Formats: sequence, C-alpha cells, structure tokens
Amino acid sequence: MGLLWVLSILLGLAASTSLENAEEWQMWKAQHGKWYLSWGEEMERHRVWLTNREFIENHNKKADVHGYSLALNHFGDLTDEQFAEKYLTYRRITRRQRRALVQYQPPSGLVRDSVPYEVDWRKVNAVTPVQDQGWCGSSYAFSTVGAIEGAWAIKRGSLRNLSAQNIVDCSVMYGNLGCLGGNMYTSYEYVYKNSGVDDASYYPYTGVESSCAFVKAGVAARINGTKIIQLGNEEDLQVAVAEEGPVSVAVDASSSTFRFYQKGIYDSSDCSRLKVNHAMLLVGYGNITYQDYWIVKNSWGESWGMDGYILMARNMYNQCGIATDASYPTLGQRSSWSSFPQI
Ligand SMILES: *[C@@H]1O[C@H](CO)[C@@H](O)[C@H](O)[C@H]1NC(C)=O
Ligand SMILES: *[C@@H]1O[C@H](CO)[C@@H](O)[C@H](O)[C@H]1NC(C)=O
Ligand SMILES: *[C@@H]1O[C@H](CO)[C@@H](O)[C@H](O)[C@H]1NC(C)=O
Repeated sequence: MGLLWVLSILLGLAASTSLENAEEWQMWKAQHGKWYLSWGEEMERHRVWLTNREFIENHNKKADVHGYSLALNHFGDLTDEQFAEKYLTYRRITRRQRRALVQYQPPSGLVRDSVPYEVDWRKVNAVTPVQDQGWCGSSYAFSTVGAIEGAWAIKRGSLRNLSAQNIVDCSVMYGNLGCLGGNMYTSYEYVYKNSGVDDASYYPYTGVESSCAFVKAGVAARINGTKIIQLGNEEDLQVAVAEEGPVSVAVDASSSTFRFYQKGIYDSSDCSRLKVNHAMLLVGYGNITYQDYWIVKNSWGESWGMDGYILMARNMYNQCGIATDASYPTLGQRSSWSSFPQI
C-alpha cells in the first residue's frame, strides 16, 4: 500500500512536470477540488484547460474594448460541448404554454421614463444568497424559487429560502426532467397545483434527482398564477422588475465568454435571441454612462462572475434573449389560499 502510494506520487510528479503550465494546473485543480479517475482523463482535461486558458488570456488583453473580463473558473476543464450538455438544459416555453399564460401589461400611463432608472432588489432584502446547482441541469428550479422568494419577500414581507430540490424532484410529473432540464412555466404550474413549495431547510438541495419528498408542513410559499412578459419586450421587462419584483429569465449562455464571465457588463454579439438555454433570475437593472444593464442572479456559486451575479447588456435588441422567456409568479390574496386545489 505504502509503496504504491509513493510510486503513484513519483509517477504523478514525473508526469506533471511534462505538462505545460504544470504548477498553475495543479493549483487550479486544488482550488476547485478537481481530481480525475485516470491519467488519460487528466491529460485530456489539461489539454482543454490550456485551450480555455489561452482563450481567456486573449480576451482579457482586450477587456476594455469588450467591457468585461473573463476568469478561468471551475468550468475551466470543460469544452463548450461538455458544458452545454450538462448545464445548458433549459427547455424553452412552447407556444402552447405561452398561449396559456397571462401576458404582463404595464400599468396604463406608466412609461419607461417614469419608472426608476435603477432597481436592485438585493438592497431591500428580497433576494436569498447565491446557490451552486452543482453537476445538475437545474437552473430552471433555482430561477423558479428565486422569483417566488422575491415575490414573497416583497408582498408578504418575509424572505425565505425555498427548495430548488423540491422542484427538481417533484415537477417531473408536470414535464420537467429533473437534473436533465426543464422550465419555469412547468415549475410554477407544479407549485400552484401542489399548493406550495417547501422551505429549503425542510427539503435541502442535493443536486441529484430523487423521488419526490415534498412535506406539507414545510410549505413556505404559495402562488396563484404566472405572468409572462411579451416576447422580446425589454421595456415591459424593466417595468415588471420595478413594479413586481425579481423576474425569471432564460438566456443563450452557450458562448465561452458567458461561462467564464468575471466582471463588467456582458455584451456579446454572438449569442442568440431565440435559442435560450439557461435560466437565471433578474433582480434589478441600472446604467452607467452610455450603457444600460440588467442585474442577473446565477446559480453557479458565489465564486462565478461578480459574487455569483452577471451584469448583462440591456436595451440591446433583447441581447442573448433575456426578454424571450421572462415570467414571474403572482401570489394573489391571502384569503384565497384555502381555495387552492389540493393534491
Ligand atoms: C437562507 O440560507 C442562508 C444560507 O445559504 C442563511 O444564511 C440564511 O439565514 C437563510 N435565510 C433564512 C430566512 O432562513
Ligand atoms: C443613469 O441614467 C439616469 C437617467 O438618464 C441618469 O440621471 C444617471 O446619472 C445615470 N447613471 C449613471 C451612473 O450614469
Ligand atoms: C390571483 O390573485 C389575484 C389577486 O387576488 C387575482 O387578481 C388573480 O386573478 C388571481 N389569479 C389566478 C390565476 O387565480
């Protein structure tokens, strides 16, 4: 046993010295808790990591021109394809689903000039800490609970951590696919018909799909419906965020620049306005001189982006599709709770 151990260390040392930027690679692996099953896999991951590293370095040389910088974060050993397969699993709202939803109408007479030029729901304690979805395609579940948390905090005056795992495990019968993806429409439908969603402390996140373990006693919030923003309308989206609270959104996150985003205003011309594939939560918006942005909460941990958040270009022709599948839950009157359909 001891001998094998020494041997493997010697082998590892010998091998690692033959890798390009070996020291940095070892540090990166240690920092992100990475280990690989075989030497072959390690070689392959290292090769991918070098390619990503070079891509990021080149981008950062022109970070001023781009308006944002990149970082070699915990996705550094994945190719775009591997990343997309695991993480870009948001399933677009179908036309049928869209037709079934009530479209948000900004209050009449309310035009863009009369809504605040900046909103940040984090400042009034309507947003819970950033989570890490881990090795599970559950962005839709985090987006869903985030929007309900916001509505509950703003309209009921209490901020609670709601259970994304509850959505992952239990909305499968409504059409979501657990860790393989889903959307917010289906998740809201589940929460509505289930008469609530559990508090995260009753139903903690595991990042693995299991059979539904919903506990009625753990219900921390309920909804009575959903509204959807007119497709592509960023003006309505802005008013909705200002008037109603955090809004669930989906974007095209398939560019390497997105997954390696570090800070600044993300502005990319190579993302699609229609092929949205990753769900997040809009918690506000703002502007710096000459540039409008959205403040978006992601579910890739606090070390990703700006403490887990990304600022995305706003009023740039619905860039990356941020206003393509935007929706939020409505809570209704307290008195109507008892008339909710029970399962
Ligand atoms: C929500 O969870 C965080 C940890 O992620 C904790 O610090 C916070 O107190 C929780 N909030 C509530 C209202 O339970
Ligand atoms: C954002 O826009 C508003 C309204 O045009 C302006 O008053 C404000 O100074 C801008 N903020 C920044 C930081 O440029
Ligand atoms: C939800 O409640 C609000 C306020 O009571 C009401 O206006 C709305 O029609 C309700 N929505 C549904 C789908 O029941």
